[in-house]
Amino acid sequence: MSKSFGEEGGRLDYGTYLGLETLLSAQRRRTEAHDELLFITVHQIYELWFQQLLFELEAARDAMLAGEIPGVRHLFRRVRVIERLLVEQIDVLQTMTPQDFLTFRSELEPASGFQSVQYREIEFLSGLKDPSYLERVHATADEKARLERRLSEPSLWDGYLALLAHHGNPELVDVLLDRDRYGALFEVSEDLLDHDQAFALWRVRHVTMVERQIGASRARADRRVRAICGARSTAASSPSSGRCATASSPAGVRCARGRPQPPPRPQSRLRLPRPGRGGASRSRSRTRSPAQTDRRRSAR
Ligand code: HEM
Repeated sequence: MSKSFGEEGGRLDYGTYLGLETLLSAQRRRTEAHDELLFITVHQIYELWFQQLLFELEAARDAMLAGEIPGVRHLFRRVRVIERLLVEQIDVLQTMTPQDFLTFRSELEPASGFQSVQYREIEFLSGLKDPSYLERVHATADEKARLERRLSEPSLWDGYLALLAHHGNPELVDVLLDRDRYGALFEVSEDLLDHDQAFALWRVRHVTMVERQIGASRARADRRVRAICGARSTAASSPSSGRCATASSPAGVRCARGRPQPPPRPQSRLRLPRPGRGGASRSRSRTRSPAQTDRRRSAR
């Protein structure tokens, strides 16, 4: 019997090639809540795109280290389209109402996007390297090894500096101002800025979704707990706080390195009264020390 087009090899079928059995059995709901499947699917799709982005960004970094320009531009074009999807995809999750989220939310704790290792790998590869993250995240030995590798390997910014070196090592300011002479290098710097901006947009979109889903005060409370525990917060890395999203661009590097992060604001509600001052006023602190509480009890 003659074989139709596509069946000549006869070694593979669609499902086997794509590993669909494994892929489609990885959405394991923990509740009967209708929207939980959407929640899992959206997160898994993000992780798949993060994996793809790492693949493309790594290739772009290596091409820059080798001094290639056309290949880098091609890769960044793809990165740009994927990153646009990442921002738009939030709309899908936002079809879930806060009330629907509440039906299964308690099952998730303490899991959080903060623990996404691939997301952090993208940040590290892009130049926003934060070694302290390793101490704060709950990750497997393999994940920690990946993060350590990202910390020590060249970033996109290192790649761009190498690209400049391959092309006569011009001053960055000349590249930005003299486009007739340095047009191609200038375009790559724009690609890096696009990547930086796409991540900043994702952060803004994510935080507005979070506030819609769980409320601004709850989101702030989560961030405060992280700040007190020494962890990074969503706000601390958002553009509105003056910190660049990835530091992969010339502007990003200046921003991430040049602006010291302000220390976390004093947490007045959680601060203990200072000793020797008769205690802080109620408006400054609602938390009493054990000694204060004893004094109040004996005065009654
Ligand atoms: C209902 C939907 C969502 C809610 C309520 C939510 C909530 C939050 C909250 C409260 C934080 C900050 C607290 C913390 O650091 O643990 C956070 C961080 C984060 N979330 Fe989400 N999130 C949602 C969806 C998503 C999705 C779809 C992704 C995609 C992967 C994601 C990825 C992240 C990442 C990467 C962080 C860490 C950001 C950083 O540290 O800079 N989240 N999320």
